[in-house]
Amino acid sequence: MATSQSDFKRQPAIVILDFGSQYSELIARRIRETEVYSLVMSYRTSAEELRRLAPKGIILSGGPNSVYAEGAPVCDQAIWNLGIPILGVCYGMQLMMHQLGGRVESAVGRAEYGKAPLYVDNPTELFTNVESGSTMWMSHGDSVLALPQDFICLAHTLNTTNAAVASHNRRLYGVQFHPEVVHSTHGMIIIRNFVYHICDCEPDWTTAAFIQESITRVRTQVGEKRVLLALSGGVDSSTLAFLLHKAIGDQLTCMFIDQGFMRKGEPEFLVEFFDHKFHINVEYINARERFISKLKGITDPEQKRKIIGTEFIRVFEEESIRLGPFDYLAQGTLYPDVIESAGTNLDPKTGERVAVKIKSHHNVGGLPKDLQFKLVEPLRNLFKDEVRKVGRSLGLPEEIVKRHPFPGPGLAIRILGEVTDEKLNCLRDADLIVREEINEAGLYESIWQAFAVLLPIRSVGVMGDQRTYSWPIVVRCVSSEDGMTADWSRLPFETIEKISTRIVNEVEGINRVVLDVTSKPPGTIEWE
Ligand code: XMP
Repeated sequence: MATSQSDFKRQPAIVILDFGSQYSELIARRIRETEVYSLVMSYRTSAEELRRLAPKGIILSGGPNSVYAEGAPVCDQAIWNLGIPILGVCYGMQLMMHQLGGRVESAVGRAEYGKAPLYVDNPTELFTNVESGSTMWMSHGDSVLALPQDFICLAHTLNTTNAAVASHNRRLYGVQFHPEVVHSTHGMIIIRNFVYHICDCEPDWTTAAFIQESITRVRTQVGEKRVLLALSGGVDSSTLAFLLHKAIGDQLTCMFIDQGFMRKGEPEFLVEFFDHKFHINVEYINARERFISKLKGITDPEQKRKIIGTEFIRVFEEESIRLGPFDYLAQGTLYPDVIESAGTNLDPKTGERVAVKIKSHHNVGGLPKDLQFKLVEPLRNLFKDEVRKVGRSLGLPEEIVKRHPFPGPGLAIRILGEVTDEKLNCLRDADLIVREEINEAGLYESIWQAFAVLLPIRSVGVMGDQRTYSWPIVVRCVSSEDGMTADWSRLPFETIEKISTRIVNEVEGINRVVLDVTSKPPGTIEWE
């Protein structure tokens, strides 16, 4: 997961040494928020390599190990003498203490997980403007019991005497808590203090700088060669299309495969927008017939996903041969996709993260790993909201930038049981009404996903003097930070009423609307 230095031309101002914390890249992201360029590297990076890179500061991440355990990851002992300021976070601080002669032990009965007030004993440098008693996020089963020579304690919590330490002479600092997580209310102040006051960095890493840097890098990587991009219309692939078009112009071909499971008006909008308006070369592949015929009679959700996934790859391969040859495949991989596939276990030989199996459904709609392309993935270190900023800065309209996530297999998984054209048409109309009313109520941005689901069961209703026997639509609206957990959105009654009335009046084949009030877990966001 750690990105190798050779991928980057720019020298990082801050290097983050990765000891396997789930928050390592989050630290990098927080440093980017201060407009300073940082890079996550393996904890095995040598002091010599760091001297050559000459960052202005080094941060040691947290990690799941105990520093005194056999085989625990350690850094090159020579880094403590580089003269570069170092901040150790959680495991990083314990390692600093351990390697410099302090004592770290299991905090029996005094482990701390969750929020804790931090009392600042020495409000200098790292703690300038940090309010004493403010909340910090703790997650440790070990504690530092004795400090190495020349170190002093800067702050404590009720359970941890040495919650922050420093050797001002040697410019070495450690915090037992996680300043990078959002629950640490003054965490960003500490990060800024380190970056600006201790390391003396310049604020020169902006969205514009990221774009410029990525363009240069892509140009260097692909030269005169042709690049293929599977465009879905979501914010990631759209941002990537804009970025690559800016970098390599007509060397980029976007392939847009219409499986027939998109939302109403979406294929037309995409072609009009990318191809006609922005002159980005889009090959529209109408594969609707192929997909729907493959799904005939199929009701099992896993089987549906597999068939759609396999067919997608087939179409992609056929069309890339027809339109090719291409040397490179561009993918809108983001950092959360990278951590999904990388565990917190570090390979003791390489220091890199050991890959874990990716959740099956997130592979569907994606491409196989053995395609004969080299990959271009300029967004792989970014989080979703950072991609939105990049997209916006490249001129993508808000309509695309603020888009809700949409699953690869599209509406096919929002129709339970067999997928037919008739059900697809019903669902498309109902889905449009949900989106229109959510927009109309000004709720679109506060909601993570808002959509309709069609259930393949019929119930009795009455319309005018007629008895009906039709399908119901489920309205599913959720709030979420990252899609991993979610809560159902408390929509105003008037909005629910409008959605319901419009769907039964306007969508033929639907006579009932129900609202999903299940959080995730135990429910999932999609129904399938
Ligand atoms: P669940 O239903 O597992 O979904 O709670 C979590 C998030 O993932 C999206 N999702 C997908 N995204 N391809 C995708 O790109 C897929 O096959 C897929 N299935 C689910 C879902 O919309 C939600 O945002």
